Amino acid sequence: MPVISRRTLLKGSAAAAASFSLGAGLAAGRGAAAPSPLLLKAQFIDAELAKDGITPKVMTYGTSDVAASGMPPVIRMKKGEPFAARLVNDLDEPTTVHWHGLRIANAMDGVPETTQPYVYPGDGFDYAFTPPDAGTFWYHPHCNTLTQMGHGLTGAIVVENPDDPVFDAEIVLNLRDWRLGSGGAFIAPFKPREAARGGTYGTIRTANWREEPVYDAPSGGLVRIRLAATDVTRIYTLGVDGAPALVIALDGNPVKAPFPPDRLDFGPGQRVDLVLRMPDTEGAVVWLGNFRGSTPWTIATLRAAGASLKRDIGDVKPLAANAIAEADLSTAEHIPLDFTATAEHAPTPGICGSLGYTFWAINKVAWPGDTPDPVAPLAELKLGRSYVLQVRNRTPHAHPIHLHGLTFRILSSSKRPVLPPPTDTILLLPDEQAELGLVADNPGDWLLHCHIIEHQKTGMSGYFRIA
Ligand code: C2O
Ligand code: CU
Repeated sequence: MPVISRRTLLKGSAAAAASFSLGAGLAAGRGAAAPSPLLLKAQFIDAELAKDGITPKVMTYGTSDVAASGMPPVIRMKKGEPFAARLVNDLDEPTTVHWHGLRIANAMDGVPETTQPYVYPGDGFDYAFTPPDAGTFWYHPHCNTLTQMGHGLTGAIVVENPDDPVFDAEIVLNLRDWRLGSGGAFIAPFKPREAARGGTYGTIRTANWREEPVYDAPSGGLVRIRLAATDVTRIYTLGVDGAPALVIALDGNPVKAPFPPDRLDFGPGQRVDLVLRMPDTEGAVVWLGNFRGSTPWTIATLRAAGASLKRDIGDVKPLAANAIAEADLSTAEHIPLDFTATAEHAPTPGICGSLGYTFWAINKVAWPGDTPDPVAPLAELKLGRSYVLQVRNRTPHAHPIHLHGLTFRILSSSKRPVLPPPTDTILLLPDEQAELGLVADNPGDWLLHCHIIEHQKTGMSGYFRIA
């Protein structure tokens, strides 16, 4: 396989450790009980993504344990226990790591200029934090994101809860596309006319860097599937065929009453946790598919293996909720946020790249979210106070709007009859108006942006300052 060898990696990291100037994270994050850091070496590899060739210069994060596919590792953390990672930049451009959905200290949030310095090639940065919530999350850079994420730098995070029920198997699926030409080489990451609409789609669709992968799972068993939509553009509509299934969590947070995944929409940045009950017959298959668009297609297939465990899907109970503060609506201040296709301010390009266009804005200001261009915060929030964000999508496109560092509740929506659990990302539907409640309980500058990366990079981004 075209994957770096363990030996090369160890040699590289030892050399690197000797010469690094490490970021502020080192001092800020080191507690008495700091564990030894996980090595995340951002690097180029060749990977076998398309059926018709090897893709050169794919970007991944290597550790001492690189997956056969080359995919960034699934990072496992424990709720309430310290975690540490050392980013080593072996790319040829600056990068950072953002821990999507984790409510951690601002200095660990991975946004260049805003929360930490750029990590230049050959440099490194130490991240250390304690994840407060259990669930499925993910990680990616926050610099030149259309290229860096589009070329591979998206990985899943599982934060385990010791109180979680134990299932018979667990499969994590990192869902994403690739824009490859014939022969497997990368093609231009976007088309301007698509960036001004729903975004530019990839040409190859994968789960765990494989097209239509097949996994064995215990016959008659209860299997937990953790799906993370890490693509830069694609919104999925999930369906499961061949087994009873229940959604148990969305965006890391447990649903109060598990429900069947009957055409469930989730967009870039969002996660779905499912439990499904495998068929009793060895070799029987369960199909996970995408129903968005005209023709359904396969995300992944599970194949029943071994003698039936004879479990009952009725035994699946709701997971324990994460402790998310509830906004006090009697005192909450309201903040209107308009998402539009028109801007009154165009950003200047910065170190993390520019797509060269301004198509989108929040409250009429366009900003890509990763440049030193000094825009004012969307609002200044008082630490500990409650707020209601009155979001309004004034466009005919869906936008997965992500807030860093905080979790909010969807209090009302003009479009959805059933409100999801607390989240870090709302898939704001065309023309939807919604009210999002939150407590500003995490100090710092926190980005709010569309997770269709072309939309973010052409202006649909802003930030809150909490102090
Ligand atoms: Cu998934 Cu600004 O992040
Ligand atoms: Cu968008």
